[in-house]
Amino acid sequence: MTRKIHTVLIIDDDRSFCEALTLHLNSKKMKTLTAQTGSEALTICSRNLIDIVLLDDNLPDGEGVDFCTPILSYNNRTKIILTTAHPSLEDAVKAIKVGSFDYLSKPFKMEELDLVIENSLKAAESEQIELMRADKEQLAKEDDTILIGRRGGLASVQRLVDLAATNSAHVLITGETGTGKNLVAKAIHNKSLVKDHAMITTNCASLPDNLIEAELFGYEKGAFTGAVASTKGIFEMADQGTLFLDEIGDLALHLQSKLLGVLDEKKIKKIGGQTVKKVNVRIIAATNAELAKAVQKRLFRSDLYYRLCVLSIHIPPLREHKEDIPDLCHYFIKKLAPFFNPEISDSEIDKMMDYGWPGNVRELRNIIERSIIMHKGTILRPSEFLNPNLFDAIATSPPSKTEKNSDDDFIESIDNKELLSLKKIEKNYIRHVLTKMSDNHTRTAKVLGISRSTLMRKIKVYGLNSAIRKK
Ligand SMILES: Nc1ncnc2c1ncn2[C@@H]1O[C@H](COP(=O)(O)OP(=O)(O)OP(=O)(O)O)[C@@H](O)[C@H]1O
Ligand SMILES: [Mg+2]
Repeated sequence: MTRKIHTVLIIDDDRSFCEALTLHLNSKKMKTLTAQTGSEALTICSRNLIDIVLLDDNLPDGEGVDFCTPILSYNNRTKIILTTAHPSLEDAVKAIKVGSFDYLSKPFKMEELDLVIENSLKAAESEQIELMRADKEQLAKEDDTILIGRRGGLASVQRLVDLAATNSAHVLITGETGTGKNLVAKAIHNKSLVKDHAMITTNCASLPDNLIEAELFGYEKGAFTGAVASTKGIFEMADQGTLFLDEIGDLALHLQSKLLGVLDEKKIKKIGGQTVKKVNVRIIAATNAELAKAVQKRLFRSDLYYRLCVLSIHIPPLREHKEDIPDLCHYFIKKLAPFFNPEISDSEIDKMMDYGWPGNVRELRNIIERSIIMHKGTILRPSEFLNPNLFDAIATSPPSKTEKNSDDDFIESIDNKELLSLKKIEKNYIRHVLTKMSDNHTRTAKVLGISRSTLMRKIKVYGLNSAIRKK
C-alpha cells in the first residue's frame, strides 16, 4: 500500500522563510503550498485538503489566530501550528483556544519543526482511528432494515413491503444475488404486527438434506444416533413470528412436500415424536433461481410454489434502478462512517452510474467500504475499485502468485514446499475465490465449477461465511 503524502500549507509573508521550509519539507516527502496572507490561505484551504498549517501570528491582513476558525471550517482535521517571533504564554493560550494544535517560537531549528509535525500527524492519525472505531460501534448498533431507493424500480418493492407488513400472507422474494432479498425479508418482519415475535432464518442450501428435516421440525431424544436431548425445530421457534427460508430453490423435493404439509395443516411433528403441535408461522422465502422455470422442469413443486408466492416481490438488479445509486452511495457513506463523514464528488457518482454492477447493491456497499478504508476516510474515490473485467479475468486465469495478501498464503505455502492436505487447499481456495468475488455465491460457484448448493454446504462445513471470515 502506498504511504499517504501529507500536505503542509505555510502561511507567512516572509518569502525566504517560506522557501526554506518548502525545501526542507519537500526533502521529507511532504507536499507544500504557500500563502503570504490569511485570505490567500483561505482560498487555498477551500480548494485543497490540508493536513498541516504552519501559521505566522502576524500577517499583513490580520493576526494569525483570527484565521484558525475559518481554516478549520474547511477541514476540522487540519492541524494548525502557530509560529511567532514574540512568544508569550498569553498568546499560546489564545492559540490553543481557537483550535490550533501547537506553537513554535521563531527562530526554530528544522529538527524542532520535524518533531512538532510528527506529533501533529500522530495526533491526526489517532483521532482518525478513534472516529473509525466509533463508526464501527455505531454500525453494530444500527437497525439494519432501511431500504434505500424510492425513485426507481424500488418504489414498487417498497409498496409491496408495506403491503406484506400489514397482512400475514406468505411471501416469495426473488432477485439476483446482492439485490437485497434478506434486507427486504427483515424489513417486512420488522414492520409487521408480529415484529415482537421471533424471525428465524435458515438457509436451505447450506444444510445437508439429512439435517434440514431435523432443523425444520426438531427431534425427540433418541430419535437418531446423537439425538441426546429433545430439540425444537425452527418452525416451533418461529411460532407466532416469521420463518425466513433463504435459497428456497435449493430445497430437496422430498422436503418440499414436507414443507407443503406444514403450510396446509399448520401442525408439526418432531422426528421420533408422537404428538403434533400447532404452529402459526408466516413464511418468507427467497431465491435467486428462476423458480418458475424450476417448476416447469419439475425440480420445484408447483403446489408449493403457488402456496409461497401469494405475495411475490421481485427486486430488480441495480443496473435497472441506477437512479438510486447517488442515494445508495450517500447512505452507505453515512452508515459506514457516520462520524468520519468523508466526501464523494459528483464525477465519482457519475462513474458509479456508468458501471454495470454484476454484484448489485452488495457490490456497491463493498466498494464504498473499501474506499473508506483505503482512502483513509477523507475524499472517496470508489471508482478506483470498479473492475468491469474482474469476473471474466478471474474465471479464466489462476490466482496470481505475485499478489501478497492473506488469502494467497496457501499458494505461497505450496511454493514453499509445505505439504497441505487436499481439504486445507480446498478450504483456502474457496475462501480465496469468495473474497475475490465479494461474497457473490453464484459467481464463486461458477468459478469453482460446483453447484451453488454444494458451495453453500462447503461454506458451512468450513465455517467460511463472510461474517466469520471478516473477524
Ligand atoms: N435497497 C437497499 N438499501 C440499502 N441497503 C441495501 C439495499 N439493497 C441491498 N442492500 C444491502 O446490500 C447487501 C446485500 O443485500 P442482501 O444480503 O439482502 O442481498 P441478497 O439479495 O439476499 O443476496 P444473496 O442472493 O447473495 O443472498 C446488504 O448489506 C444489504 O443491507
Ligand atoms: Mg440473501
